Amino acid sequence: MKYVIGVDLGTSAVKILLVNQNGEVCHEVSKSYPLIIERSGYSEQNPEEWVEKTTVGLAELMDVFDGDVSDIEGISFSGQMHGLVLVDHEGQVVRNAILWNDTRTTPQCEEIYDVVGKQRLLEITKNPALEGFTLPKILWVKKHEPEILERSSLFMLPKDYLRYRITGHIHMEYSDAAGTLLLDIAKREWSQEILNLFDLSTGFCPPLVESHDFVGTVTDNFAKETGLSNKTKVFAGGADNACGAIGSGILNEGKTLCSIGTSGVVLSYEERNDLDFEGKVHYFNHGEENAYYTMGVTLAAGYSLSWFKDTFAKAKEEDFDQFLEGVDEVAAGSNGLLYTPYIVGERTPYADSSIRGSFIGIDAAHERKHFDRSVLEGITFSLNESIEIFRNSGKTIDSIISIGGGAKNETWLQMQADIFNAKVEKLASEQGPGMGAAMLAAYGCGWYPSLKDCAQEFIQTSKTYYPIKENVEAYKKLFKIYQQVYTQTKELNDQLREYRK
Ligand code: XUL
Repeated sequence: MKYVIGVDLGTSAVKILLVNQNGEVCHEVSKSYPLIIERSGYSEQNPEEWVEKTTVGLAELMDVFDGDVSDIEGISFSGQMHGLVLVDHEGQVVRNAILWNDTRTTPQCEEIYDVVGKQRLLEITKNPALEGFTLPKILWVKKHEPEILERSSLFMLPKDYLRYRITGHIHMEYSDAAGTLLLDIAKREWSQEILNLFDLSTGFCPPLVESHDFVGTVTDNFAKETGLSNKTKVFAGGADNACGAIGSGILNEGKTLCSIGTSGVVLSYEERNDLDFEGKVHYFNHGEENAYYTMGVTLAAGYSLSWFKDTFAKAKEEDFDQFLEGVDEVAAGSNGLLYTPYIVGERTPYADSSIRGSFIGIDAAHERKHFDRSVLEGITFSLNESIEIFRNSGKTIDSIISIGGGAKNETWLQMQADIFNAKVEKLASEQGPGMGAAMLAAYGCGWYPSLKDCAQEFIQTSKTYYPIKENVEAYKKLFKIYQQVYTQTKELNDQLREYRK
């Protein structure tokens, strides 16, 4: 039996999957690492942690693997998007990585609009200037730590840095490069125009490859530390959302994904690169050659729930199932309690880093279960904003694959069907972006003629949730109220800003 490994370098942990030729997960290891939050709005990580935890995780996986190590043919990666890793001419990291959920860069986003022009930026990169993207982070370092940028000869994204440490070779692939604001999305090349405008050299950007491209083998040293063979082939990999899509079979026009991790996304496959969503949703290169996807992002999806649990759970409630006990007893609408998940700002439909969340309608009769349900509803309403944008642009969205935290709870799955007013499908073996990474390795190794063929073999759905008419009607009305909360709390939140530490 042959195997591949998929490594998903997430925001809170690295998850490693050993997958066999039938698409079965044979072993799985996860190692977590912390966020470094020095001030409100900041979010960093030490890239060395990614390398250390991946090394330890792979070594653990190899310890329990009882096959022949040469049967592990390939390894590939999925990674948290947008994070800025700066390295000097010796390939040494010069500062902590600034992550996708760091929102310190509002002035730099304005600078990008001033220098490039909003319309021109959209024409080239297909996306607006958002705090989370990479170019604003580069400009922040240029302004606040100029000596650091001077020492940096190159930038990388998180999983590209990890892969560089495993192979010794530097590359970036299109699906992740798409989130930098430096890539011409349709032409699939670094934008010389944008690089020139910000005085950045072409050499500052790594060479571009396809997600399934072979980029080297595991170094002798890394092989020794982990137990892998130094003949294991390494393939470039993809952005976590592209890999989540691949790992859920979102590889044809009309397929839509709802993925709830720390952030939550609704993502739809696109064959074309010339549509215009006016920057309302993200428009990125897929991990499949010459394909694209559009995507709306809720910044604090799973994070809203883990924040709420960490802050308000009783000591005995260890896992989310215990924590969410009772949500199924509460009717749609949480007895008049409404939550907006803007606890770290928002992306879609409001690109606003200073908006903050709310509970509206707190009543003395509310219990914890009402709060729990309203958090789930608020996250799902936020994701529904993206679905509305897709529908308003003419797309048909009647069937959605749900993965991540949102697929782990029956009540939440039914709620998604009711709020999205679409059929929601759960996968038989849901592995998220790590499976997409493993599939890129399987395709790269030549096991299948295409990713689509691989998906047919690897991915099955197990259960379907259909919208319940009364709930759909109740949620339609409630969604209209939800949509007003942003505008009605915007100014209040601006006034509260000076109190944030
Ligand atoms: C996408 C985004 C997040 C991260 C999470 O634009 O910022 O979904 O990719 O890792």
